Amino acid sequence: MSFAGKAAVVAGAGGGMGLNIANDLIAEGCNVALLDVKARPADIRTGPGRYRYAQGDVTQESFVKAAIDSATAAFRRLDYLVNATGVLWFDRDKSLVEVDMEVWDQVLAINLKSFALTARHAIPHMKKTGGGAMVHISSIQALRGDIKAQDAYGASKGAILSLSRSIAIQFAKDGIRSNAILPGATLSPMQARWEGKDALKAQIADYIPVGRIGTTQDQANAALFLLSDKASYITGTELVVDGGVTALP
Ligand SMILES: NC(=O)c1ccc[n+]([C@@H]2O[C@H](COP(=O)([O-])OP(=O)(O)OC[C@H]3O[C@@H](n4cnc5c(N)ncnc54)[C@H](O)[C@@H]3O)[C@@H](O)[C@H]2O)c1
Repeated sequence: MSFAGKAAVVAGAGGGMGLNIANDLIAEGCNVALLDVKARPADIRTGPGRYRYAQGDVTQESFVKAAIDSATAAFRRLDYLVNATGVLWFDRDKSLVEVDMEVWDQVLAINLKSFALTARHAIPHMKKTGGGAMVHISSIQALRGDIKAQDAYGASKGAILSLSRSIAIQFAKDGIRSNAILPGATLSPMQARWEGKDALKAQIADYIPVGRIGTTQDQANAALFLLSDKASYITGTELVVDGGVTALP
């Protein structure tokens, strides 16, 4: 899995899975542009790959285009795109019959439209590089419903799978691959509500066949495999990384 001298854009890299993926790529010698609305985190790896941090809103096309264009100019190529942006607004994302439709639009813009924007501006650069690979972070919620309805989140995660497959088909001839990862419960800032709640975490871990809640490293391991040449014949598909939850009856 050689990433040395290659270049990546990771959206949603201000924390959680995106930051872990960016750090693992930097550790492999890949040059990485990290995009996030949050301020630059303190724990970005400093080498051997180089990095650039662009703070901004990935639902804004002008920001996305400028960040991807300037990273490609600095790194002189673009090989990889990771879409790890996402919001799960527990208090505001509800059943479709109750949700404020402005909230619906915001969730769809962050969780889905931003993926289209980054891919739209990465593809021309990947073509010039001679190919590339993308990983889009969906969720196991794309495959199943939820007892507590969070309909905007679920719909956005389902749509990511269709978008990823379409990118895979359209740009295979250009040497560009596109795959999705479907994480199960993963300890990250998104799940900050579990902090300090050991009994709840033990209960969740108990339900998961492998007996523990996932880590951002579990997701980063899957992402680097799908980006790498070891996955050169894998495109237009999904990798579930959930400790066995979706295999349960
Ligand atoms: N943690 C889980 O249990 C879990 C499970 C399944 C899927 N996921 C998905 O994994 C992905 C990564 O989530 P995570 O768990 O690392 O959580 P996270 O909250 O740490 O990461 C999401 C990142 O997206 C950024 N972001 C949100 N809105 C943005 C915007 N408009 N512009 C730029 N950046 C923005 C956030 O600042 C954050 O850094 C998300 O797509 C999430 O839906 C998470």
